[in-house]
Amino acid sequence: MLNLIPVPYKSEEKNGSFIIDGKLKISSDFDLPLLKLERADDGKLIIKKDSSLPDEGYTLDVKEDCINITSSTEKGAYYALQSLRQIGRYELGKREVPCCTVEDKPDFKWRGIHLDESRHFFGKEEVKRLLDMMFMMKLNVFHWHLTDDQGWRIEIKKYPLLTEVGSVRKYTQINGWHCIDTVDEVYGGFYTQDDIREIVSYASQRKITVVPEIDFPAHCASAISAYPWLACRELKREVPGYFGDAVPVRKFGIRDWNRTICLGKEEVINFVFDVIDEVCELFPAEYFHIGGDEAPKNEWKKCPRCQKVIKDNNLKTEDNLQVWFNNRVLEHIKAKGKRLIGWNEILKAGNLDKTVIAQYWTPQRDRNAERHANGGGNLIMSNHRSFYFDMPYGKYPLKYTYDYSPENYGVNKENIKNVLGVEGEVWTEWIDGREKLDMQIFPRMQALAEAAWSQPENKSWKSFCTRLDGFKPYYKLFGINYAVDSVSMPKNLLKRAFIKYKFINGDTHLEVKLNKKYKGEQ
Ligand code: ACM
Ligand code: ZN
Repeated sequence: MLNLIPVPYKSEEKNGSFIIDGKLKISSDFDLPLLKLERADDGKLIIKKDSSLPDEGYTLDVKEDCINITSSTEKGAYYALQSLRQIGRYELGKREVPCCTVEDKPDFKWRGIHLDESRHFFGKEEVKRLLDMMFMMKLNVFHWHLTDDQGWRIEIKKYPLLTEVGSVRKYTQINGWHCIDTVDEVYGGFYTQDDIREIVSYASQRKITVVPEIDFPAHCASAISAYPWLACRELKREVPGYFGDAVPVRKFGIRDWNRTICLGKEEVINFVFDVIDEVCELFPAEYFHIGGDEAPKNEWKKCPRCQKVIKDNNLKTEDNLQVWFNNRVLEHIKAKGKRLIGWNEILKAGNLDKTVIAQYWTPQRDRNAERHANGGGNLIMSNHRSFYFDMPYGKYPLKYTYDYSPENYGVNKENIKNVLGVEGEVWTEWIDGREKLDMQIFPRMQALAEAAWSQPENKSWKSFCTRLDGFKPYYKLFGINYAVDSVSMPKNLLKRAFIKYKFINGDTHLEVKLNKKYKGEQ
């Protein structure tokens, strides 16, 4: 078994090894600017272009006297080098690459990680670290959740208050959704447009597409704090530091968050288009994510302007009003040659354009999402049980990520081709820094890589666990606080129940503490 995650399409180990003595020189048909090896016509690492190979695929042939790589693209060549990196373990001090042949290609084209930087803000260096590890795992989509109720994190030149006002909150809820404790400190941060360009470029060098998510029409409390006219009712509200209803209701006596924009004002629709225009200029990706999840309809129900749109357009319900809005955004996005993505709730009303990509996340089964895929529409799978990386391992152990299959979520075998791929979601209400961020993501990212890249017939949990053990020195090398097996693969059902109970009741950092303890004992 080669020491390699994700497991390749085909591979064979051979006798002997290639010894790296002195400097390894490279001869390549591709530029590969990230590769810091000296070039030479007689280089022993030979990379050749072969246009017959699939876009992201490659072959790797390690012989005793040379290493041959073929690919049709620079991306494929980089992926071959990532495989070589793991097999050869050069960074870990090895100088012998075992002889082998590898023929590789991905199962899914969308292999993503999402990061919520609204609830907590991590900054450029953390994002780059994440992108580096994604590159190593052959992941290719970074879904960047840049706006939400608790903070607007991207500079928009036309509306400066979005970041001046909307990126700063005065306190932050702690200890879980049901608790009313807060840390009463100013919390903020945002990316300037230059920062965004820097990250997009960094990702692009690593062949990662950055997909921006600007959540409309709900999860907009931070924008509404900056520009109260965006809401149906113009209430003066600060950027909320709470994540659920407990704090506003029990602590502040506020029964409504006012977090949904008014769809009955044309100036609000124009605001949305203006924001989208600036965002799309910054992100060359062919996708734009509109969010669209968890949109409460109560404000629209009471708003004469919203009701007028419903009446004038014969829409009947507020769900259809959201679809009317989404279809307008879709026209705007389509005119830019891009595709629109939204969370699966946007499929709730029937009249949505079928070219929209739905991201299936809800813990409850959604027949609309399943019908969408089985009827030819595209889905990205982020099902709670497998891909909600913010959840404790006690609730969703690592194996739930590894064992993911679209068929488990109602997509018929013949329609799996409509599933673009999978994505791990990193919501950060209770992830307040790097220690917890790392633990929630690793080793889930490695399991996701295999669910996304490897063909189902090549997957084996047992083999994965062995290869994961082989991978752990990299976590140490990169200073990643990964979850140890006793945390990520909890066996005892009672212990799991205890962790879930504690999480629900406010101990959001229990596994962080356990991880520290078990690591100390190793
Ligand atoms: C979501 O978790 N509300 C998409
Ligand atoms: Zn309204």
